[in-house]
Amino acid sequence: HRHLLGIQGLTPIDINALLDLADEYVEQNRQVDKKSAVLRGRTQINLFFEASTRTQSSFELAGKRLGADVMNMSVSTSAIKKGESLIDTAVTLNAMRPDLLVVRHPDSGAVALLSQKVDCGVVNAGDGTHEHPTQALLDALTIRRRLGRIEGLRVAICGDILHSRVARSNIHLLLAMGASVRVIAPPTLMPIGIETMGAQAFTSMKEGLDGCDVVMMLRIQMERMSGSFIPSTREYFRYYGLDYEKLAYAKPDALVMHPGPMNRGVEIDSLVADDVDRSLIRDQVEMGVSVRMAVLDALSRHLPNQ
Ligand code: CP
Repeated sequence: HRHLLGIQGLTPIDINALLDLADEYVEQNRQVDKKSAVLRGRTQINLFFEASTRTQSSFELAGKRLGADVMNMSVSTSAIKKGESLIDTAVTLNAMRPDLLVVRHPDSGAVALLSQKVDCGVVNAGDGTHEHPTQALLDALTIRRRLGRIEGLRVAICGDILHSRVARSNIHLLLAMGASVRVIAPPTLMPIGIETMGAQAFTSMKEGLDGCDVVMMLRIQMERMSGSFIPSTREYFRYYGLDYEKLAYAKPDALVMHPGPMNRGVEIDSLVADDVDRSLIRDQVEMGVSVRMAVLDALSRHLPNQ
C-alpha cells in the first residue's frame, strides 16, 4: 500500500505488522539517540487544514527521527487563504516532488480524493467524521502493550460518536482484531445504523460499561455541531462524563483512554484522566510517535526509488 487512508480494508496481518514495527520504534524512541536513516533523502509534507497538537507534532517528530526532510505547511498563511482549492494545493505541492504527504481535512473523503491527484504516498491524519487511522493504531498499540492482547477484550467507546473519526477507525480496528466493541452515546450523538459496523449501541453508561476492560472517552466536538442541538456541558457531564462513579460500572481494573484534546469536567473528570494507574492517556501520546514512524516506514517501502 502506498497510502494509508483508513483502517477499513486493512487485514489483521497488516495491522499486526504495523504494531510490531511500532513496538520496535518505541524502543528506539527511548534511547538517547532516537534517529535512523530509513527516510533519508525523502521529503515529507504535513498539510493540516484543521487544528492539531498531537498528530501534527508527532508526524513531524516521526519523519525527522527517520531522517526525512519534513516541511509543515501553514494553512493559515498559505494561498488557501486566497481561495486556492484543495486539489490545486495538492497538485502544486506534488510538483515539488515530495515522497509523503500527511493530510488532515475537515471534509470526510477529502484525503482519499487528494490521494488520487498526487504521485506520492498519502497518510490520512483525520478527514472529517470519517477516519483517523493512526489514532486507532496508536490506541491499539497502547492496549496491546498494557494488556498483552486485543482479542477477546470488551472495549467501550463513549461520547460524541456521531462526529468521531476516532470512533470509526477504532471500531474497524478493534473488531478486525477480535475485540468486542460497545458504543455509548446520548441518542442525539449516536449515528443511525452504527450497529451495521458490528458495534453494540447503548445510551446508558451503566449498561454499556458493564464488564468492559477498556473505556475510551471521546471529546465532545462542539465545532461540528450546528445550532439545533448543542448539549449543556453540565448535563452532559452528569450523564456521560467519566468519573469514578461511572467507571465503577466497568471491570474493577478497567483502563481509561482519551485521544485528546480533553475537555476536563465535560466528558472526563480530571481525577480519572490523571489517575496514574488506570489512565493510559500519556501512553497514547508516547505511542503516537512510534506508530507514525512505523506507518511512514511501511509506506516508504512502496514508494518509487527515484
Ligand atoms: N488525537 C488527536 O488527533 O489530537 P490532535 O487533534 O491534537 O492532533
